[in-house]
Amino acid sequence: MAKILFIKSTPVQDELSRSTQIARIFLERVMELNPSDEVIEMDLFNMEVPFVDMDVLNAKTKLRTMTFDDLTENEKSKIKVFDQFTQQFMNADKYIIVSPLWNLGFPPVLKAYFDAVCWAGKTFRYTPHGAVGLLENKLGIHIHGCGGKYSTGGAYSDPYVRGVMNFMGVEMLPTIFVEGIDENPDQSEQILASAKEKALDMAESFKLA
Ligand SMILES: Cc1cc2nc3c(=O)[nH]c(=O)nc-3n(C[C@H](O)[C@H](O)[C@H](O)COP(=O)(O)O)c2cc1C
Repeated sequence: MAKILFIKSTPVQDELSRSTQIARIFLERVMELNPSDEVIEMDLFNMEVPFVDMDVLNAKTKLRTMTFDDLTENEKSKIKVFDQFTQQFMNADKYIIVSPLWNLGFPPVLKAYFDAVCWAGKTFRYTPHGAVGLLENKLGIHIHGCGGKYSTGGAYSDPYVRGVMNFMGVEMLPTIFVEGIDENPDQSEQILASAKEKALDMAESFKLA
């Protein structure tokens, strides 16, 4: 049994978000193929995803050499929330990250989420030869909705999502782009059908070795 985190990062309702529609088809197929998998859904726009601030930075620095009791009350309460997010991320085995392209990036709440779970000593560590991911045997996929066509480059969103997940040690399957509908609305049916086919195909590979 694998634990799946289904991480949604759009304020748009499911029926109107193309990437979410495709992600739901992907998830449904994954569950058919792996019925004992467990899914935890995170709707980042409807959660309080914390931002890193000076209390959080101070808490992380102090915790390298001191104990939790040495933190201020503010540092304690804030770092506890970061710890919950990070533990949940570390406890998962597979990740489905669903995002829209916004101004060549993705919505800031997803960046805040990555900032919450990227934690030196927990999800990655520094070495003299560069940072290494501490997560092992974990698999992810990014399902990305774009108004134009960006699967061959030109936006920062997908390279970042893949990069940061790899940075923590998570292997990523090829991204499923649901792209080009805003540029070519007359092709929306074909674009969605092709993304659906990719999702059904890729679901077969969404399992741990
Ligand atoms: C705030 C905002 C910024 C956007 N920026 C871009 C962009 O830079 N490039 C682009 O091709 N589409 C852009 N779009 C269009 C969305 O990427 C497109 O509608 C996509 O389908 C959204 O994903 P979703 O349908 O999966 O929610 C933007 C949309 C919004 C609301």
